[in-house]
Amino acid sequence: MRKSVKAVALVLATVMLTACGSKADTNQTNDTAVSAQPQKTEERATVEQSASDAQEAVPETNDTLTFGTNAEFPPFEYVASSGVIDQYDGIDMAIAKNIAEANGMTAAIENMEFDSLLIALQNGQIDAAIAGMTVTEDRKEEADFSTTYYTATQVMIVKEDSDIASAADMADKKICVIQGYTGEICVKNLGYPYEAFKKGTDAIMELVNGKCDVVVIDSATAQKYVLDNQGLKIVEDASAFESEEYAIAVKKGNTELLDKINKAIETMLADGTVAEISAQYIETISAE
Ligand code: ARG
Repeated sequence: MRKSVKAVALVLATVMLTACGSKADTNQTNDTAVSAQPQKTEERATVEQSASDAQEAVPETNDTLTFGTNAEFPPFEYVASSGVIDQYDGIDMAIAKNIAEANGMTAAIENMEFDSLLIALQNGQIDAAIAGMTVTEDRKEEADFSTTYYTATQVMIVKEDSDIASAADMADKKICVIQGYTGEICVKNLGYPYEAFKKGTDAIMELVNGKCDVVVIDSATAQKYVLDNQGLKIVEDASAFESEEYAIAVKKGNTELLDKINKAIETMLADGTVAEISAQYIETISAE
């Protein structure tokens, strides 16, 4: 399903430089149904308790760390025939697995729409959200964010023969974005009209079919789409698109989990695990 959005083009160049990536859309859509409680895997809870143990009120420990994601964002998360966590593969999935294991837990994935992730955190359906999610001021009001683990930027994907060479060149073009992504916020802040799609691949199809002129999306994901589809290229504009930092979100106030996640991320950043995982997935994807 696609949603037409008419942006009011009254914002001029003065705001352009500061706006992109720093503000999130406050109109989070609540219309996405959140499914029932995730299945908890209980592989680890196999030890039979003796009668005397059972009498003591040992608090039930939850050995599963449930991460929410939107597996439509290669190389960070996508569905594969066999992934690092169930059918889910990608940089974030490998990081999630490491975080869970560093804490003696098993990682589980709940795949949902990107727009539903912060709601799912709030209602306890997931413990954490890992989804190439950019930290923004607006999102910080809805969730707490971990130490950042990846730096990205928005880029423009265009046809190889396109005359778009900068963000300003999009002014009179048909622009496609993905609903709820920072790319949408950037284009909105630039003041250009656009059309929002549910999935990156849908927006790319529109571009390939000549129904839109440019797709604005995160850099690493753009590279994957350009590799997968002939006749496309990436156009960068560092003066229009600020760099963005990805982090894991937890429910506001869940400092216990945030501390665990941060310790694991900081270790993985310091010992090169994050760099290794990123390089591996970016390579794998390029070699396909
Ligand atoms: N970095 C962008 C954002 O935070 C896009 C993330 C999309 N992630 C995904 N798993 N679909 O809005």
